[in-house]
Amino acid sequence: MPLSSPSSPRPFYYPKQGSALHCGKVSLETLAKRHGTPLYVYSGDQIVERLGMFQQALASREHLICYAVKANSALAILKLLADHGAGFDIVSGGELERVLAAAPEAVGRVVFSGAGKTTAEIDRALIAGILEFHAESEVELELLAARAAKLKRKARFALRVNPDVFADTHPYISTGLREHKFGVDIRQALKIYKSAASSRWLEPHGVSVHIGSQICTAAPFGAAMERVSKLLRQLQREGIELKTIDAGGGLGIDYHRSSFDAVAKVREYAAAIQGALAGYEGQLLIEPGRFIVAQAGALVTRVLQVKHNGKKTFVITDAAMNDLIRPALYQAYHEIVPVKPSAGKSRIVDVVGPICETGDFFARDRELAPVATGDLVAILDTGAYGMAQSSNYNTRLRPPEVLVEGAKARLIRRRETMADLLEPEKFAIGG
Ligand code: LLP
Repeated sequence: MPLSSPSSPRPFYYPKQGSALHCGKVSLETLAKRHGTPLYVYSGDQIVERLGMFQQALASREHLICYAVKANSALAILKLLADHGAGFDIVSGGELERVLAAAPEAVGRVVFSGAGKTTAEIDRALIAGILEFHAESEVELELLAARAAKLKRKARFALRVNPDVFADTHPYISTGLREHKFGVDIRQALKIYKSAASSRWLEPHGVSVHIGSQICTAAPFGAAMERVSKLLRQLQREGIELKTIDAGGGLGIDYHRSSFDAVAKVREYAAAIQGALAGYEGQLLIEPGRFIVAQAGALVTRVLQVKHNGKKTFVITDAAMNDLIRPALYQAYHEIVPVKPSAGKSRIVDVVGPICETGDFFARDRELAPVATGDLVAILDTGAYGMAQSSNYNTRLRPPEVLVEGAKARLIRRRETMADLLEPEKFAIGG
């Protein structure tokens, strides 16, 4: 089992033979006892370290790391990132409210992406004074101009262009091809900027792309930036100077190997982007989500039963697909390790949750160290799109979250209660 060091890529490790899995200086066994299971545990130290990797790799130019809030929107994590200089990429009014609650001082570092913003969302963001709107269509620009005129506040916008670059990732999270619903065809961009530049209420401020998520090679990012660079030169010739270029998010991690070199990955990624932007002096924005928080997180869950069905062995845990849907939705791989390894032969098992769906699994035909009822296991690399995509399916209460910084662990979200869940409906039954 390769988890021996507390350093990157994963902050989870066994300090010595026979001890429980730790996050920083804190034992996951202790945390599970204190807060119950299932439980999300995050390393605040690794989150800050990952942000720092991007900041360092881009240090030679003006830049802003706009963390993609959707990956993990815990208020304490947003505050931690804001305190270390991050901006934010939001995709809804709800995410804006989270940033305003956690770090109101960072609102000037917010970019607002997303295909389909409502009038109310636009108004709130205009009044709050975000850095720029990422407009995904001409229709959206018209709405933005109308709201800006109404509120008498000029709207800074970046057109999200679709560079038509293929990124080899899961089809559900690839976004950079013309056939996808995102952005405007880069060939239409010049015309749109020219017409927007004549509007009193719109300020062409930047250009943005996002070609997809969990992209593990740097080349597609470079290719997208080459195309954006060409557009910038065309715009300059027309007298339109943009202050920002946003290269989007999407840098992937290696879910399979623990030898993954995060620093080298970020450097390679930054070099590909910057190489394509030689000569551009403006501010470079990026929107990483997964790369900052995924490996910082683990879902700790207790084994309810080990069940044998014919040839198969099922390890049934108290976490389920409502807590972590990535395996069911994207056939995603997450490494699973016992919190306290015991001696004995490993077995081939399915690790599944208690929900009444065959899709409720975390691993299939996986070699796992021996575990028994009551044991704890940790599902790794679950800091991104884990809790953020959780639900109350099967009327299950969503798990609490703990943030570990050095030797300190603090609860950052309590476990939901039945009262939380029933409250919005009680009036309907006269309660
Ligand atoms: N910017 C925009 C406009 C995005 O749509 C996304 C992610 C990001 C940034 C951040 O991408 P990241 O750096 O995290 O790859 N639920 C899926 C991932 C969906 C990503 C959607 N957009 C998963 O669990 O793999």
